[in-house]
Amino acid sequence: MDHDTPAIDFSNKSRGYDELASQLQGLLDGEHHRIANAANAAALLYGALPDVNWVGFYFMEFTELVVGPFQGNPACVRIPLGRGVCGQAAARQVTILVRDVHAFSDHITCDVASNSEIVVPLIRGNELLGVLDVDSPKLARFDGEDQAGLERLARIYVNSL
Ligand code: SME
Repeated sequence: MDHDTPAIDFSNKSRGYDELASQLQGLLDGEHHRIANAANAAALLYGALPDVNWVGFYFMEFTELVVGPFQGNPACVRIPLGRGVCGQAAARQVTILVRDVHAFSDHITCDVASNSEIVVPLIRGNELLGVLDVDSPKLARFDGEDQAGLERLARIYVNSL
């Protein structure tokens, strides 16, 4: 099977996310494996989203997040619930958008190249599965449209399981 996907034009973000959502839906179609689908989702997003240096998953295990499939530099493995951007997004079950990671007091640095970050919780029913984390070397890389687009992609992943 050929998994090469055409480049996505994000000059119109909303259309870019529409296209990315349809590619992700197609990529995960018929497969329900949590790790396999996270791996393919991370690879697709990393290749398609402009100006990102890390895209990946952390999964809940007891009281901490444990790194899952990702693209980018090696990352910290365990993040206690409530710590860092990831742990706070997981604990509060809300998306956290950080314009400048250096101004976020409890930010956990994995890649020194990261300047902004967005973390979307992965929730199925009442269950917190983990988070989707995307980092950028650009300050204020993520806005409300990215939040809406990434929350939609996170839902596609969760619904695939
Ligand atoms: N910056 C995150 C840690 C994960 S890495 O960015 C991949 C945080 O503060 O939770």
